[in-house]
Amino acid sequence: MKNRIIDIQVAARQAEPTTVKADLLAVGVFEDGPCCQASQAVNTQLGDPLGSLKQLGDFEGKVQTSAMVYADGKVAAVRVLFVGLGPREKCDPQTLFKAAALAASKAVDLKAKTLGLLLYCGQGDKDATPGLEQAGQVMAEGVFFGAYRYDEYLEQAAEKRPAKLTATLLTAQEKTAAALKKGVAVGAITGAAQNYARTLTNRPANMITPASLAAEARKLAASVPSLQCSVLEPTQLKTQKMGGILAVGQGSANTPRLIVLRCKPAGASPKTPAIGLVGKAITFDSGGISLKPGQGMQDMKFDKSGGIAVLAAMWAIANLKPKVPVIGLIPAAENMPGGTSYRPGDIITTYSGKTVEIQNTDAEGRLILCDALAYARRLGCQTIVDIATLTGACAVALGRKRAGLMGNDQTLIDRLKTASAQTGERLWHLPCDDEFVEEMKSKIADLKNVGDKWGGACTAAAFLSQFAQGAKWAHIDIAGVGVWGADEKDAPGSIGFGVRLLTAFVAASTQKP
Ligand code: BES
Ligand code: ZN
Ligand code: ZN
Repeated sequence: MKNRIIDIQVAARQAEPTTVKADLLAVGVFEDGPCCQASQAVNTQLGDPLGSLKQLGDFEGKVQTSAMVYADGKVAAVRVLFVGLGPREKCDPQTLFKAAALAASKAVDLKAKTLGLLLYCGQGDKDATPGLEQAGQVMAEGVFFGAYRYDEYLEQAAEKRPAKLTATLLTAQEKTAAALKKGVAVGAITGAAQNYARTLTNRPANMITPASLAAEARKLAASVPSLQCSVLEPTQLKTQKMGGILAVGQGSANTPRLIVLRCKPAGASPKTPAIGLVGKAITFDSGGISLKPGQGMQDMKFDKSGGIAVLAAMWAIANLKPKVPVIGLIPAAENMPGGTSYRPGDIITTYSGKTVEIQNTDAEGRLILCDALAYARRLGCQTIVDIATLTGACAVALGRKRAGLMGNDQTLIDRLKTASAQTGERLWHLPCDDEFVEEMKSKIADLKNVGDKWGGACTAAAFLSQFAQGAKWAHIDIAGVGVWGADEKDAPGSIGFGVRLLTAFVAASTQKP
């Protein structure tokens, strides 16, 4: 049995909030009181429940808190959920994303079919708080995030949630509606893209193989006119001498692929160099002959998170029509032990021509990525960002809320940090310079695939850097955030980390590919 996952629709409109009919109306409240006059009016018409809530100490507008009251006909909505936004002057895009996510999650738990949101009406002109366009985008994204449930294979899914949630972001003023709508139009794309990534990533390895992922990419590309997909099948990987992808995939009956997605804006000069986005898609990482311990091995279905983040971001990018060409490269393989597997000690020749001594078959991500990076260079990309659940060491170093960021160009690092500040997908810059490269040199091949036990995230990145030479390159290690999905109790599993980040990065790169 397979269910359709929840259908989420988000729009924006101007309305008098007290008259909005909805199963749930979410109203934003700062620590010093309701966000604006319109939200104050809802409270007044309800007989000032916020006054009692504050007096009792039950709800004080703190972030990630909420209080629900029943309207009993006093306003048009059935229920009103007051959502805390924290201190007014500290309100940033992430506050609004989380508030919208909390409201949407409650709506789904209540089986509400319609949700109105009057969370925020700031203008963003006087201080550092977001303007309504940015607010519209992040609140729409938050609704998608919070309403998501992965229940494709749960028999009782339909009883636990509505089939469809229709959310409407509200503004009381006519003059602000246009900005809000503009932001929501973007957020509805990026939010949907992120949830698409979560679903694909959450699917287990008996359902997502390199071949089925390639079929999914083809299907996705067929749904957007400006997106083209081509796939290098095993025979083509052989003629192209993609020794890294082939070695990692050779132990599995599910043969490897290299998925290539191109998004070219109409009217772009053929000479404009493309941005390359490269994502690791190991559909299952058993470790191979260097087999992983059994405990927790099931989480290695998430080892395709980076590749799927690129796939979903390419869909969002194609829909948002940026002015710069973008190429998405997704090397996909299953890392399995068997009679045909690659082994510790093997020396492989990668697509770049560089040879690699295999010391551990569990350090496979860098072997598929190095072929895709070199291929991105061959295709003319001068800016390349890769994203991968690459090292446990990165998760040990940074925990589960921040991804590692490494690279060879400070301006590119800064651009990614700017995108990260917009989307709330946090990054932390780590080194990968020459000392780490030295450590990855082998005595019997150009490189080896593991360093010593220290600084594993940095040595892995240093290995990759050798295949991106000549380009501005950055690497995002999402092992901590991509695999376990942080601590999302409502929807455990993938959080689709990187989809909004990569999309925001490309959207801001229009002038500087
Ligand atoms: N996919 C793993 C990294 C990983 C580990 C992601 C845990 C999420 C959670 C990767 O392929 C791997 O196994 N890396 C090894 C490298 C080592 C052998 C140098 C690791 O991190 O232990
Ligand atoms: Zn591995
Ligand atoms: Zn892996």
